[in-house]
Parts: sequence; structure tokens; C-alpha cells
Amino acid sequence: MAKNNKAMEQAVLDALRAVRDPDLNNDIVSLNFIKDLKIEDGKVSFAIELTTPACPVKKEMEQWARDAIMTVSGVREVKISMTSAVSRSTAAAGKQSIPGVKNIVAVGSGKGGVGKSTVTVNLAVALAQAGASVGLLDADIYGPNIPLMMGIEGRPHAIDDRIQTLSNHGVRVMSMGFLTSDDTPLIWRGPMLHSVIQQFLHQVDWGELDYLLIDLPPGTGDVQLSLTQTVPLMGAVIVSTPQDVALQDARKAIQMFRQVRVEILGIVENMSYFQCPHCGERTPIFGHGGGAATAAKYDVSFLGEVPIDLALREAGDAGKPIVALDPGSPVAQAFVQIAERVAAQVSIANLTGADKLIIE
Ligand SMILES: Nc1ncnc2c1ncn2[C@@H]1O[C@H](COP(=O)(O)OP(=O)(O)OP(=O)(O)O)[C@@H](O)[C@H]1O
Ligand SMILES: [Mg+2]
Repeated sequence: MAKNNKAMEQAVLDALRAVRDPDLNNDIVSLNFIKDLKIEDGKVSFAIELTTPACPVKKEMEQWARDAIMTVSGVREVKISMTSAVSRSTAAAGKQSIPGVKNIVAVGSGKGGVGKSTVTVNLAVALAQAGASVGLLDADIYGPNIPLMMGIEGRPHAIDDRIQTLSNHGVRVMSMGFLTSDDTPLIWRGPMLHSVIQQFLHQVDWGELDYLLIDLPPGTGDVQLSLTQTVPLMGAVIVSTPQDVALQDARKAIQMFRQVRVEILGIVENMSYFQCPHCGERTPIFGHGGGAATAAKYDVSFLGEVPIDLALREAGDAGKPIVALDPGSPVAQAFVQIAERVAAQVSIANLTGADKLIIE
């Protein structure tokens, strides 16, 4: 009997080799996704441990695995549980990492006002909704908007010299906005700025995080450049609008990250088009398709497009990210898909290492 089981186990694993992770481009047995395989009286049970809970093809993968196993002779029943363990980046070698934080991802833009904070907030909430542990660091200490957009008021307190984050919508947040009064303009000199960011990274109690997103201040000047060198980043997401000026600045941002050897996870095109709520017609107010074209030109992934949407702006102003407020809306769905693609890109980068960086 035991011998039979061994043979059947092998047959099950062989069948599962037909199931591939389309992002990681390998089969789920080679990727070591199959855990706790048990076979008893023709009843097969196991877990598929993905590299992110925000896997774009989670449901499909379960179905593919079920279909594959049903072809194995002697199988009467299949029980699959879908689990995940987010992979940890090793890309930021040499920089002081944050214990417990697996992947630090910057969101940058080049040009200001393109919706970087809006995108960051909704990606963070979407990843948290998928089941990931997520933090959000507002590195825009000149104009911190994240507290307003996340609907968080209050002051952080310290426990044992560790500053505690404030949370909402399932995301742990730290922002200069928690520490200063509303309308005081903030003027930081370079060294002060660095020490603030260092404190935000290393003296804040982030806990265990799968993803820590960092909303960078706009621009590609010295401040941004040195910030990207200060923070142990595993990758960067670039947000642009479709106008030529914004894309030009996005290209500068790509070059900046490449200069400091931070992998570009991809480009998000925000304000891609306006869809008329009455007739459904799409108007490309700022042009359309420039994000995808830029991504292709620089050989980075295109992560998706977000329409111009009144409810999105209102939700942001009201401290309720649209992904939390109206998860079924097309604009929220766009963010969910982009979040899944970002998570997939993180997994791919962690699997392949940083060796495919192209320095220009
Ligand atoms: N797709 C969109 N549809 C409608 N409004 C949007 C969209 N994206 C962003 N906005 C609005 O545009 C304004 C600017 O967005 P946001 O603050 O996210 O940009 P930013 O790039 O972070 O700006 P800054 O450079 O000042 O940090 C906000 O009022 C936001 O609600
Ligand atoms: Mg911003």
C-alpha cells in the first residue's frame, strides 16, 4: 500500500508539472509551490503556496491543478488549499534592511501632480485586501498627503522608543503629516530630510510586512536621488499621465532608478482616458497609450491604466480610497489588477535576482 502511495505521489507530482505560473514562467512543482501533499485511499490533498496572496491567476491555478490531477488514475477526490508566502527581496544588499519587512517598493513619477499618491494609496489598500501585510511610508515630507487620503488623523506614540504606525483600510502608515500641524510649510535641508527618512525606516515599528510602499516626493532631483539611495528599495513603480511632458519626466525617473540600480517594476498610466458616465464613450483627455509605449521603449512592464474618474478624486479627498469605498467599480478593479501585476513583478524580481538590470 505504502509503495502504491509513493508511486501515486509521483504520478500526482508529474501531473502537476503541467501547471505553470505564467508570471514566473515555470511549473508549480519546480517552483516548490506544492506543500503538504497527502494521499489516502485515492484522496489527494495539498497546498499550493504562491509567492503572493495577490496572484492574478490564483483561481485559475487551482482549477488547472485540479484538472491535471483528475487525469491521474486512482484519484477519487482532490482537496487544494491556496496559500502564500511572499518572497523576500535580496536586491538591496549593502543597505540597512528593515527586519520583518520583505519588500520595499518606491512609487515615483518625475512630474508632480500625476496622481502618484492616489495610485500608491489604492495599490496599498488593494494588496492589503488580497491578504498581504502592507505598510505605506509617505516620504513626501514637504507635502504629505497620505494621512488625508488614507483618512487617518492623530499622532503616533512610541513604545520602547519605537514609533508606532497608524492604520486604516488594513494598511500601516507613517507620514510627516502625523507629526506637524496642518498648514505649516515644511522646509527641510538635505541632511535633516535624510535623518527623518532614516527614522521613518528604522525607528518605526513596522512589524512584519510583505510590502512597504513608499510614496516619493515628485521630481528627479538630488533629493529624490539620494532618497532612493538611502532606502533599501527592491524596486520602483513609475506613475505617469499620457502627456508628453509627464512621459518625459517619467523617462528621467526611470533613468534615476537605473542609475542607483533599483529595478523598475513597471509603469502605471494614470488619467488615461475619461469615460462618459452617460454614453460610455472614452475621451483621451491627455492623449493615450504613451505609458505603454514608454514601457516598451525602456523594456519594462506596463502595469495598467487608470481612467480619470470623479469618484476616485472625491474618495481620495474624503480619506476613503476608492478600492475600499467602491471595490466593484471599474476604476477600483483597475487598481486591483495593477496591484496584482506589481505583486507579480516583485515575485519575478525576487526569483531572478537583480542581475538583469540594464544600466544606461
Ligand atoms: N485618475 C484620476 N482621476 C481623477 N482624479 C485624479 C486621478 N488621479 C489623481 N487624481 C486627483 O489629482 C490630484 C493629484 O493627485 P495626487 O495627489 O495623487 O498626485 P501626486 O502625483 O501625488 O501629486 P504630488 O506631485 O503633489 O505629490 C488629486 O486631487 C487626486 O484626487
Ligand atoms: Mg503626492
